[in-house]
Amino acid sequence: MTTPTAHPQAIAFIGGGHMASALIGGLRAQGLEGHLIEVVEPLPEQGERLRRRWGVQSSVQAHPGLSRADLVVWAVKPQVFAQAAAQAAPYTRQALHLSVAAGISSDSMAAWLGSQRIVRAMPNTPALIGRGITGLYARPAVSADERRRVEGIIDTTGDLIWLEQESQIDAVTALSGSGPAYVFYFLEALIAAGVRMGLTPDQARTLALATFSGATALAQSSQESPEQLRAQVTSKGGTTHAAISAIEAAGLKVHFMEAVLAAQKRAAELGQEFGRSPT
Ligand SMILES: NC(=O)c1ccc[n+]([C@@H]2O[C@H](COP(=O)([O-])OP(=O)(O)OC[C@H]3O[C@@H](n4cnc5c(N)ncnc54)[C@H](OP(=O)(O)O)[C@@H]3O)[C@@H](O)[C@H]2O)c1
Repeated sequence: MTTPTAHPQAIAFIGGGHMASALIGGLRAQGLEGHLIEVVEPLPEQGERLRRRWGVQSSVQAHPGLSRADLVVWAVKPQVFAQAAAQAAPYTRQALHLSVAAGISSDSMAAWLGSQRIVRAMPNTPALIGRGITGLYARPAVSADERRRVEGIIDTTGDLIWLEQESQIDAVTALSGSGPAYVFYFLEALIAAGVRMGLTPDQARTLALATFSGATALAQSSQESPEQLRAQVTSKGGTTHAAISAIEAAGLKVHFMEAVLAAQKRAAELGQEFGRSPT
């Protein structure tokens, strides 16, 4: 089989689904050659799709050739992580490990993979179009150079922030990981209100989407807080004031914050559920 460390930049992906595809697309766009990317993907059709699209190597199960990878990206669902780790661990001890799996702690990974060189990432779905935001946590054994290597990969999917504590990953999961769904929910409500007021669904959608992206861009380019920006467009007795007063009367901010905290709690529970040793 392939000589270990035959190429210092070879990257293996365990799992070839949506997140792996987004990262592979980014790496190929950066100029990494397809033959240096090895994907383990149990569904043969999915492996074939990746091979055709990106020119990567793919296999349906872990194999000794994985030992040429100095970086292994874990892009499997949390439910199958332990099993996938048991299969690949014999060939990946030399590598730096980067996991995008929700809920799987780096302690569990260290135990399953026999390595301390682990980075956990929590991306979100806009990563699939290069507009994601990812929270990253590195175990102490990960060097500064290795952190930069990870940044170079995550950069291709959008922005990133580093976290000091692993427990903060659950907060990232609740805020930005689940966050796109909150935005979609809010958009649904805006569109439904628009239609109720006599706009066509297309008009309401156009207005709602442009309002969201425009307001976000304004907040990003401004020194002022969202609260200050809101105050500036809320004159007493005006239309916005009427809307915000109704929102406040319904206690929406508190309910919404409770919803995000519920997501954080669920993220921690999932870690407990799937972080057990493989049976
Ligand atoms: N999509 C996102 O935006 C997003 C955001 C944040 C975090 N994440 C996390 O990223 C991880 C991957 O998500 P995803 O959306 O990419 O999921 P996905 O599209 O379902 O991809 C997971 C892939 O792993 C494969 N797989 C299953 N068992 C395996 C094994 N033993 N060895 C190797 N591969 C195996 C699956 O194959 P089969 O189809 O045959 O099962 C599937 O193709 C998850 O933990 C998710 O929580 C995703």
